[in-house]
Amino acid sequence: MSTRNSLNIGDKFPNFQAETSDGQIDFYEWMENSWAILFSHPADYTPVCTTELSRVANLVPEFKKRNIKPIALSCDSVESHRGWIEDIKSYGSLSSFNYPIIADDKRELAVKFNMLDKDEIGKDGIPLTCRAVFVIDNHKKLRLQILYPATTGRNFEEILRVIDSMQLTDNKKVATPADWKNGEDCMVLPTIRESDIPNLFPRGITTVEVPSGKRYIRRTPQPE
Ligand code: BEZ
Repeated sequence: MSTRNSLNIGDKFPNFQAETSDGQIDFYEWMENSWAILFSHPADYTPVCTTELSRVANLVPEFKKRNIKPIALSCDSVESHRGWIEDIKSYGSLSSFNYPIIADDKRELAVKFNMLDKDEIGKDGIPLTCRAVFVIDNHKKLRLQILYPATTGRNFEEILRVIDSMQLTDNKKVATPADWKNGEDCMVLPTIRESDIPNLFPRGITTVEVPSGKRYIRRTPQPE
């Protein structure tokens, strides 16, 4: 039987224990009641990863506003992470480093969460992790997963954008269109009946005319 998890959106994200640059954690306890973004790295002391970890450190206030705790994972030891953090701080002109990095030097979590990239082989001849991103909500449900190749650094503005959309659409009966940004018009959910519109969308809606004559493209200002 495979030990790998093949996680889908909506699945409960499994708990785990790990050594991190901030000490031993139980993932669920560490999350408390917040959301989490868990993002993996191929290895310490690598250039693209250094830019990413420094970017996330700068974005911690943005994650905090959204009740999200970041946690990184890299396939090296805690000792290695602690040394690398000094480089990350220097690269990003950071006075401190404000989130943990999991030490997955035995690749246990990389295997468990199916994050190994067979095309990226480390110094020891074993595959490294790809750049996986998991966003887990406060009910420990997996809400978003994205896999990037090792040679492409992530766009964390995009990840914040998706988090904004998820946190909005959890509470309001809208979906967000292509390239939407927080504050822009949203789409009324297809399941909403015309008769419920005045009650649900007091700021009004605009229906876009299309050749089919079907009235399904309904825009509304972003609900408060
Ligand atoms: C990097 O983080 O720079 C990197 C790591 C593995 C392969 C390619 C780039």
